[in-house]
Amino acid sequence: MKKEKLHNDHLMPVIGLGTFRSKEEDAYNAVLTAIETGYRHIDTASAYKNEEAVGRAIKDSKVKREELFITTKLWNTDQGYETTIKAFNDSLEKLGLEYVDLYLIHWFKGYKNSLDTWKAFETLYKMGKVKAIGVSNYNVHHLQHLLNNAKIKPMVNQVETHIELQNQFLQDFCLKNGIQLEAYAPLMSHNIKDLLENETMQKIAKKYNKTVPQIAIKWLTERDIVVIPKSVNPKRIKENFDIFDFSLTEEDMNEISKLNRGRKMFPEFDNVIF
Ligand SMILES: NC(=O)c1ccc[n+]([C@@H]2O[C@H](COP(=O)([O-])OP(=O)(O)OC[C@H]3O[C@@H](n4cnc5c(N)ncnc54)[C@H](OP(=O)(O)O)[C@@H]3O)[C@@H](O)[C@H]2O)c1
Repeated sequence: MKKEKLHNDHLMPVIGLGTFRSKEEDAYNAVLTAIETGYRHIDTASAYKNEEAVGRAIKDSKVKREELFITTKLWNTDQGYETTIKAFNDSLEKLGLEYVDLYLIHWFKGYKNSLDTWKAFETLYKMGKVKAIGVSNYNVHHLQHLLNNAKIKPMVNQVETHIELQNQFLQDFCLKNGIQLEAYAPLMSHNIKDLLENETMQKIAKKYNKTVPQIAIKWLTERDIVVIPKSVNPKRIKENFDIFDFSLTEEDMNEISKLNRGRKMFPEFDNVIF
């Protein structure tokens, strides 16, 4: 599978399984199905309350740990130096792992928190407990502040990205600064109906004998964006991974780029109330 090289050379598979809103047993079964299908990248978070189930599925999959790329995230109320170290160790214990591949600050919660938390991330990275460190829900000004003050640059920024919120400006900034962009809600999450009913996407899907979600995922990987579609349905988990046997033409890419509406499904990064 195609992998993106992070700025510290750690490799990140371009497709991972999302697990937001996946209840424990569903998450367990979805991770097992995904790994059997060929996924080697799983995205969870302490806030999803399924780290233990995800960890059990990883263990039961019998796939070697070094072949997998596991991400988890620090929840907002745990930001700060000491609290981050403690929350990380709790996550690691729940996952039953020796290390995670990527640890993310889940949301921006003010400049001071960002730097205090990042210092703990740098400590965990230097200890070898995380192979890469990054952020989520950071815009250019949040990233710039971190870049100005960090000893170790963030390797990843995970943000909402899909056909109606294309983030080209943020991607350009990330590319310039060696930060990998990762798309969450690539299928427009709880508004997936709007993606499935999009006529341009339906037309392109028909042309390739693919489904609309497959085109939406492929369009992101063609832009060198890592993508983590969530499903707990075995058929859809397989479908979302079956995108490596075709390429989109420049014309198709340009047509999809016209679908941008700047439409967010999740809160603005500077107005998070949780
Ligand atoms: N960092 C953050 O703040 C943040 C925020 C949100 C999400 N995330 C991460 O990103 C992942 C993906 O985002 P998301 O879960 O919000 O939304 P998503 O992946 O855009 O969409 C998930 C929805 O699409 C359905 N679905 C999946 N594949 C499908 C297919 N092929 N055909 C039809 N329906 C399909 C799923 O239902 P079924 O499960 O029934 O298939 C679910 O309802 C999350 O799971 C999480 O890991 C991160």
